Amino acid sequence: IEPRSICIKEVGPRDGLQNESVFVDTQDKIAWINQLSHSGLSYIEITSFVHPKWIPALADAAEVAQGIERVPGVTYAALVPNARGLERALAANIDEVSIFLSASEGHNQSNINKSIQETLPILGETAREALAAGKSVRGYVSTVFGCPFEGAVPVENVIRVTEALFEMGVREVSLGDTIGVANPRQVHDVLEVLLKHFDAGQLAMHFHDTRGMAVANVLTSIEMGMSIFDSSVGGLGGCPYAPGASGNLATDDLLYMLDGMGMKTGVDAEKLKAAALFIQPKMGRSLPSHSMQACQTE
Ligand code: HMG
Ligand code: MG
Repeated sequence: IEPRSICIKEVGPRDGLQNESVFVDTQDKIAWINQLSHSGLSYIEITSFVHPKWIPALADAAEVAQGIERVPGVTYAALVPNARGLERALAANIDEVSIFLSASEGHNQSNINKSIQETLPILGETAREALAAGKSVRGYVSTVFGCPFEGAVPVENVIRVTEALFEMGVREVSLGDTIGVANPRQVHDVLEVLLKHFDAGQLAMHFHDTRGMAVANVLTSIEMGMSIFDSSVGGLGGCPYAPGASGNLATDDLLYMLDGMGMKTGVDAEKLKAAALFIQPKMGRSLPSHSMQACQTE
């Protein structure tokens, strides 16, 4: 594959922390995000303005958003489920708002307590208000490659909700393998269909590494023309409302492959590793990424 530019969107402070049982101290979150801001990343999803009872690990969303350094050139995004979340996100001066839903009913119901049909107008209103406030909006579709409650998810369902998100004015849709069940052939087959409906430049891939397939899935996605990937430092992460969901694709593992293949990301691997080493002791366990495991045995 010809070397080219790949955009890494760091979701560790949001997807990484939301599933952890430890509450990371607000000042530690801020210091960690500041380190990530200086690693060359251009996009960081820093927290989420969901109901704090649903995600206690991110109950300090406003303090984090207001406490971090805003490095020029870095977009600071947050997850927002509804108008109440948007109000909080705007008060905290978030740059980009990420709205989210699932391609399967079972996971949507478990995650946001509503059917897909009930969710769409709520997201539409949230997107409209965010755009009116001068913010850009990103959309997530979960369970694209499989649902913990329903199993296989028809690609038609993915197309339907992705189209609905674009109609709301989102600038990019991130396709989530929420429980890390995808394999490269499936990624190929799903993307082959989706790319007949959407441009590769409007889609991001969001892999979880539950079964060790994430890097292989990225490679297939790159071969299919995709160039935006979500990942989490050290492989932290998961969705507490998706049984079996574990860590995201690790940013450090992704970077190891991309750097080695001559792909340009702008991210400094040493600075990223320093950020992983900073957060590791706060999690009370060693971080699951291959790169972090390798560096602990070096
Ligand atoms: P609900 O209980 O149905 O909410 O939760 P509601 O609208 O009925 O409101 C109930 C009360 O909550 C009201 O307060 C609201 O004001 C309040 P009351 O009037 O009773 O005093 N409320 C809020 N408070 C603060 N912030 C808010 C908010 N919204 C309502 N934003 C809700 C619905 C969507 C809020 C809830 O289900 C929720 O917060 N879910 C979030 C779950 C979540 O964060 N999951 C993980 C993220 S998704 C993910 O990880 C997947 C992804 O990574 C991609 C992938 O891997 O596939 C993105
Ligand atoms: Mg996720």
